[in-house]
Amino acid sequence: MYVITGATGHTGSVAARTLLSRGQKVRAIGRSADRLQPLTSAGAEPFVADVTDAKRLSEAFRGAQAVYAMIPPNIQSNDVRGYQEQVSDVISSAIANAKVPLVVLLSSIGADKPDKTGPVVGLHNFEQKLNRIDGTNVLHLRAGYFMENTLAQVNAIKAVGKSAGPLRPDLKVPMIATQDIGTAVAEFLLHPKFQGKQTHELLGQRDLNMTEAAAIIGKSIGKPGLEYVQLPDEQLRPALIQFGMSQNMVGLLLEMAHALNSGYMRALEPRSPKNTTSTSYEQFVNENFVPIFKQQSTAA
Ligand SMILES: NC(=O)c1ccc[n+]([C@@H]2O[C@H](COP(=O)([O-])OP(=O)(O)OC[C@H]3O[C@@H](n4cnc5c(N)ncnc54)[C@H](OP(=O)(O)O)[C@@H]3O)[C@@H](O)[C@H]2O)c1
Repeated sequence: MYVITGATGHTGSVAARTLLSRGQKVRAIGRSADRLQPLTSAGAEPFVADVTDAKRLSEAFRGAQAVYAMIPPNIQSNDVRGYQEQVSDVISSAIANAKVPLVVLLSSIGADKPDKTGPVVGLHNFEQKLNRIDGTNVLHLRAGYFMENTLAQVNAIKAVGKSAGPLRPDLKVPMIATQDIGTAVAEFLLHPKFQGKQTHELLGQRDLNMTEAAAIIGKSIGKPGLEYVQLPDEQLRPALIQFGMSQNMVGLLLEMAHALNSGYMRALEPRSPKNTTSTSYEQFVNENFVPIFKQQSTAA
């Protein structure tokens, strides 16, 4: 039986559904039976638990042949890093207690660095905690920049007619669709070719900079030549807070952006068929960005 944390989320739901479609038993963890219902209908065992609840998670992991572990984002917290440490402590202890033989962790590029990468420091520390568990094989999947992050551009385009953010316009980043991560997670769980503690980067279909991403968005929403502008922190701070992030989260996000801009946080593996996935940014924009953009246009 495979246990999936974050089972209603972007990556967890795809991993769970892929495993179910291969006839595997899946225990799906989330905070709400209602939100887990679609997975329950697809054959998963729903398991309502909060990832900060040590006792419940130890129960959830009991009997698991493998676990997909992740730290749920908590963008409204005033202590995001503290929350991350709490979750990674609880999940690591539960894995050790239940003697889970195999774990795939959702990590990130930059998790090789111990500091100055914002929320990615929490993933670095999670990797270290799992590395200390004897007898459990662990694969740290270090994913690139989620294509889903660019969905926030819907708001920027509506507000100022431009795409905008903290990243340098010319900075190439490996951009990945979360669907590709979920699919890869399921494959690694089903066919574990790793032993001990290993890392593996997942870099999406290709590297793109924000100028190129804006051009692709512009073409798809009927605004050819859509521009991307890099905004200073002082201008981004209030906008990000307005969109629901705590001041603490905004600080971490901007720290991560600086780490990417300076090259301190970057992919370490050369691109290869092993770390390249299939969904192009064009496909992501057509399937995900355009419907949200159109919906908001109708609502406005
Ligand atoms: N954004 C990036 O570019 C990037 C890059 C690399 C790595 N990452 C990492 O990716 C992770 C996010 O992955 P994702 O996009 O798949 O997440 P997501 O879609 O936001 O899903 C979060 C999941 O966690 C569940 N959840 C939230 N709080 C919970 C709690 N307290 N207890 C139990 N379950 C809880 C949610 O379900 P319910 O609400 O139903 O409980 C949901 O299923 C983060 O760790 C992030 O650091 C992000």
